[in-house]
Amino acid sequence: MAAIQITDVKKNYAGLKALDGVSLTIEQGEFFGLLGPNGAGKTTLISIIAGLARASSGQVSIMGHDVVSNYRAARSNLGVVPQELVFDPFFTVRETLRMQSGYFGLKNNDAWIDEIMENLDLTSKANSNTRALSGGMKRRVLVAQALVHKPPVIVLDEPTAGVDVELRQTLWQFIGRLNREGHTIVLTTHYLEEAQALCNRIAMLKAGKVVALDSTSALIQRVSGSQLVLRLSGAALPETLRKLQISSSDGAIVLRLNGYNELEPVLAALRQAGCVIDDMQLQQADLEDVFLQIMGGTEK
Ligand SMILES: Nc1ncnc2c1ncn2[C@@H]1O[C@H](COP(=O)(O)OP(=O)(O)OP(=O)(O)O)[C@@H](O)[C@H]1O
Ligand SMILES: [Mg+2]
Repeated sequence: MAAIQITDVKKNYAGLKALDGVSLTIEQGEFFGLLGPNGAGKTTLISIIAGLARASSGQVSIMGHDVVSNYRAARSNLGVVPQELVFDPFFTVRETLRMQSGYFGLKNNDAWIDEIMENLDLTSKANSNTRALSGGMKRRVLVAQALVHKPPVIVLDEPTAGVDVELRQTLWQFIGRLNREGHTIVLTTHYLEEAQALCNRIAMLKAGKVVALDSTSALIQRVSGSQLVLRLSGAALPETLRKLQISSSDGAIVLRLNGYNELEPVLAALRQAGCVIDDMQLQQADLEDVFLQIMGGTEK
């Protein structure tokens, strides 16, 4: 049984195809990344998964439970950290987490609530009114709220937006532990190095369609080779190396190398042409290169 099964989901908003036939199977135990530019449809898909919005057509199930026809069972298997910072501002952090537990029928949940607060560095704010918290602290409460019922499937919609470095690390440690204990994690983020480090598989959405779906390592291998970034003086880049050039900006010249064996001939050609190397860096392709390449196409 899949953790999340998404079958040909479409969502239309007055002429706009926010989701245009999305199908994805996320297996139990995965750490799955859902990436895409602003407006790609990530939050729309998560709202449908969470039962907060209805798909125009298609089906979604969580741990085998349809999110529409079997809403309560689906919802109890799911924890969602929403992108928007919204919650009832009249309660303290602890009260908020107790109420959320009550919503799932959990009465004596304080031990787990304490553990969540401890892991998210919220303990000192337990008795603070949520209204009085900073943005990053509010985000922590949203994460805590999603976890009160120990859901097997956890979906986080940009959990680290506006969050300081320390909480990011604390958060990923905790979420990583939950993943190792068997929880399925689905993450959206615009921090691609975060996705690259954490996710074992990634789907990229563009204009409501899945345009890439693969393991993180296979995606990165699509952009093979590396980039040699040079700052030169003395002479201009020789003609013979122009074919390797992919860009130049701000005085830096970027050459694409298909392998390390291409490095030496490039250096020899530079020396022969009388170029002086003022600065040189060899950079490996990363998820950001893949993302830009996939999203770069103008087709919709
Ligand atoms: N309630 C709504 N009514 C009308 N259009 C909507 C509604 N919600 C979302 N949209 C549109 O659907 C598209 C997808 O939006 P969505 O919020 O899912 O994008 P996203 O991938 O989460 O973007 P971001 O990275 O900015 O969070 C956008 O064009 C958005 O304007
Ligand atoms: Mg969004």
